[in-house]
Amino acid sequence: MRFDIISVLPELLESPLNHSIMKRAKDKGLLDVYLHNLREYGLGRHRQVDDYQFGGGAGMVMKPEPLAACIEALQAERTYDAIIYTSPDGVRLDQALCNHLSMHQNLLVICGHYKGVDERIREKYVTLEISIGDYVLSGGELAAAVLVDAVGRLIPGVLNDETSALFDSFQDNLLAPPVYTRPAEWKGMAVPEVLLSGNDKRIDEWRHEQSLERTKARRPDLFEKFVNE
Ligand code: ADE
Repeated sequence: MRFDIISVLPELLESPLNHSIMKRAKDKGLLDVYLHNLREYGLGRHRQVDDYQFGGGAGMVMKPEPLAACIEALQAERTYDAIIYTSPDGVRLDQALCNHLSMHQNLLVICGHYKGVDERIREKYVTLEISIGDYVLSGGELAAAVLVDAVGRLIPGVLNDETSALFDSFQDNLLAPPVYTRPAEWKGMAVPEVLLSGNDKRIDEWRHEQSLERTKARRPDLFEKFVNE
């Protein structure tokens, strides 16, 4: 799977995408992430990428020409399954959308900055707008990093134990059960006996019950979905 990410601050994406599971996915050849510095497509001597807002108002807007030039240069090389714009007014990213996106080959992500991109870019090129939550980030880069991480780890072969993503929180609209490691007793607090029993069936049942209880208590909205699906 390949991600191309267009950004005015590609450095922001380097660290999160070059460690841990994302690094392993890249090393295994399962995930490629290419960062494109929009500044290289900027206009004039100053490589301008933003401009004032028509109609007045504080904050700059990303100009259409540099973005169009960058998008079209990339489109000339491959077809994209989706052209994504990270923005607080997009659809909320959830596990179902991550699962769906993980089945694609080529995704192009445009990171918004300043007041956002000129609306005509959204109309002409963008096929999917994604928000990672109801709050405003300083730019779309961190949202793009979240997207690549959440989608990339679902590519078959990326996680060591292929089944482990199946047990993630949200995979079936349930939160994950609590987990414990050694020591079995710590500061007077004991690990639930069932986990030490070696009885796989009982352990599975206990985990499922815990997931149900936790979801009901903490995320009644998800629990509703689980019950109705
Ligand atoms: N850019 C700024 N805020 C954002 C958010 N919440 N999600 C995605 N992109 C953003």
